[in-house]
Amino acid sequence: NYYAILMAGGVGSRFWPVSTTSFPKQFHDMLGTGETLIQKTFSRLAKIVPVENIYILTNELYNDLVLEQLPSVTPKQVVTEPAMRNTAPCILYAAMKIQKENPDGVMVVAPSDHWIEDEDAFIADLQQSFEACSTKEMLMTLGIHPTFPNTGYGYIKYHKEDSAIKKVEQFTEKPDYETAKTFLNEGNYLWNAGIFIWSVSSIVNAFAQFQEEMTTLFKKGEDVYNTEQEKAFIATHYALAENISIDYAILEKAKNVFVLPASFDWNDLGTWGSLYDKLDKTNEKNAVVNARVLTQDASGNMIRTTKDKIVVVDGLTDYIIVDKEEVLLIYPKKKEQHIKEVRSEVKDTFGEK
Ligand code: GDD
Ligand code: MG
Repeated sequence: NYYAILMAGGVGSRFWPVSTTSFPKQFHDMLGTGETLIQKTFSRLAKIVPVENIYILTNELYNDLVLEQLPSVTPKQVVTEPAMRNTAPCILYAAMKIQKENPDGVMVVAPSDHWIEDEDAFIADLQQSFEACSTKEMLMTLGIHPTFPNTGYGYIKYHKEDSAIKKVEQFTEKPDYETAKTFLNEGNYLWNAGIFIWSVSSIVNAFAQFQEEMTTLFKKGEDVYNTEQEKAFIATHYALAENISIDYAILEKAKNVFVLPASFDWNDLGTWGSLYDKLDKTNEKNAVVNARVLTQDASGNMIRTTKDKIVVVDGLTDYIIVDKEEVLLIYPKKKEQHIKEVRSEVKDTFGEK
């Protein structure tokens, strides 16, 4: 009864110039391991979910990339969206589709672009969550111990209790900096890892309660789910759904949210700096992917090039140095959040690169 949906529709614009609209970060080998992020995520999930029960949700632009990179996936396991509508619509759609196939299904919702080193610990946490959600109507989140007031995450206030799985008192998506600071000081808060486990019926019920319009919209397709006509239904109806994330749409509102503090190390690989943190470093504390480097008086740099390029760096500290065929980015790591804007500026000036 175990299912997984892998969300792979985002663009990852802070990883420009490697990540682009036509080739986003989840389809790149960001870690230099020989596997792309989506391949890594897929094989991790396949350790606990049967391969044929793993659905990939992505923009129609990436259909071919998905099938090419995941050869064990059949076309009917790929749900392609005609427009980006954030995570709530794709999760509800997939849940209703799975529910039609198996009303007792329990699913994990997984982003396609995270770094998780200890796969055994991850699988153990998933197993525990699957079992809990098989018998109870609960919406399960995995919580990460917060280390700084990051405003890009969801914050989970949990009820202090001895059991491993804890009741959530309040879920707050992307608080402002001051609020995040107070949360950290209070102590009983965890970051939302963005990985969720629930039975298909629990999440469909939660949408019926808090997102009536979206539920009515997708219910119209019930008869065509898993048939030849499904693609046509998606083409005409999907884009009509509200553009909203699951965090705002459901988790901030529902009363049956629970959290299991994760027993694995996690990083959501959102920026070049977070990638730097996770990679092995050279003696001078540079992180290098693909390139062959000679450095002097240079440390804290994130260096990534096309395969085997020779890079010489002298006198540069804490920089992102990233090269692609037609683009070279040399940018201070501390301004990494601005790369999103740099990308649009480049696009406006030179066209999409
Ligand atoms: N299929 C599909 N369609 N996938 C999408 C879409 C879409 O329209 N939009 C985003 N995704 C995918 C992204 O590729 C990513 O894997 C995942 O959904 C989460 O989206 P993000 O845009 O990266 O969300 P976020 O980082 O702002 O916030 C979420 O993740 C944080 C942890 O990384 C929230 O759940 C936060 O609460 C959480 O802390
Ligand atoms: Mg993210």
